[in-house]
Amino acid sequence: MDALKAKYLEGVMAAADESALEDVRLAAVGKKGEVSLKMRELGKMTPEEKQVAGPALNALKNEINSAIAAKKEALGDAALNERLQAEWIDVSLAGRPRRQGTIHPVSQVTEEVIAVFADLGYSVAEGPQIESDWYNFDALNIAPEHPARQEHDTFYMHRDEGDNRPPHVLRTHTSPVQIRYMEKHGAPCRIISPGRVYRADYDQTHTPMFHQYEGLCIDKGVSMANLKWTLEEFCRAFFNVDDIELRFRASHFPFTEPSAEVDIRCSWDKGQLKIGEGDDWMEILGSGMVHPKVLAAAGVDSDKYQGFAFGMGIDRIAMLKYGIPDLRAFFDSDLRWLRHYGFSALDMPNMHAGISG
Ligand code: PHE
Repeated sequence: MDALKAKYLEGVMAAADESALEDVRLAAVGKKGEVSLKMRELGKMTPEEKQVAGPALNALKNEINSAIAAKKEALGDAALNERLQAEWIDVSLAGRPRRQGTIHPVSQVTEEVIAVFADLGYSVAEGPQIESDWYNFDALNIAPEHPARQEHDTFYMHRDEGDNRPPHVLRTHTSPVQIRYMEKHGAPCRIISPGRVYRADYDQTHTPMFHQYEGLCIDKGVSMANLKWTLEEFCRAFFNVDDIELRFRASHFPFTEPSAEVDIRCSWDKGQLKIGEGDDWMEILGSGMVHPKVLAAAGVDSDKYQGFAFGMGIDRIAMLKYGIPDLRAFFDSDLRWLRHYGFSALDMPNMHAGISG
């Protein structure tokens, strides 16, 4: 009995893992284990022998079983400790520094523009960048022979031979959103529509993709005077300058009548641009009273309703407001430029001037 006990308790102690421990268990107290077989022999013993051997074998079995249980727990603890050791991390270590990105001037200025016009009761509308030539041109009263329609300025979508779908273009301005919006919502309406536009052009002040926003205000009795007030009010709030002066130059757009291009008074002082003073004028937008044919194309009764529209270059006014010299750098994704001219994500659109009246 003592030899058995010594043999199996040593076996339990020596087991290096759970499967070795299971082997010991089977050899000792499993169905065909040595201790179990001994217990089976009890039947052949005399009652006296049984009385001695029975309790002793039971005690041995219990002792081996509890040794196995204890060892099993110890092995489990060891495995857990090993894992804890291997997966240990020091949460108090300093993090890897990661530079924060910035808000692009175009995004910032778009938000600023929206904030000003929201105060004037305008909502934001959007349209597709790939437009049918009907929305981009025809509905806006731009004749088929108009130079803007030539391949020269406009990016046309490729068509395979035999593909007779009407032509699609990368929209050359945000004006098609006027049509889409009036078609859907009718009059009266007041919207601005910021977005990307495309023209085949590239130099210091032109990139093939740039940003515009369209303004559209249609109601009863809207006049050119309302257009002027709105644009002046916008410039005052946007540029944060009280003494804004705008100059309306007669111009021509097929979709407005009359039409005006608008310049803002400014000065260049040691390469620094100042708005509202000086002897220079900077063109910032095209505008006019929406042509009756445009209202008709969008299903609006031009005897009842009229209004104004304008299109302003977002990149252009971003350059003016924040003194950024070269438009092409806007879209180079140069991190040094983005860090220099970008805005913190927490900067709120600056609107200290507010809206008067
Ligand atoms: N769509 C014109 C352009 O891109 C701007 C404009 C918009 C002019 C609305 C008048 C009215 O140049």
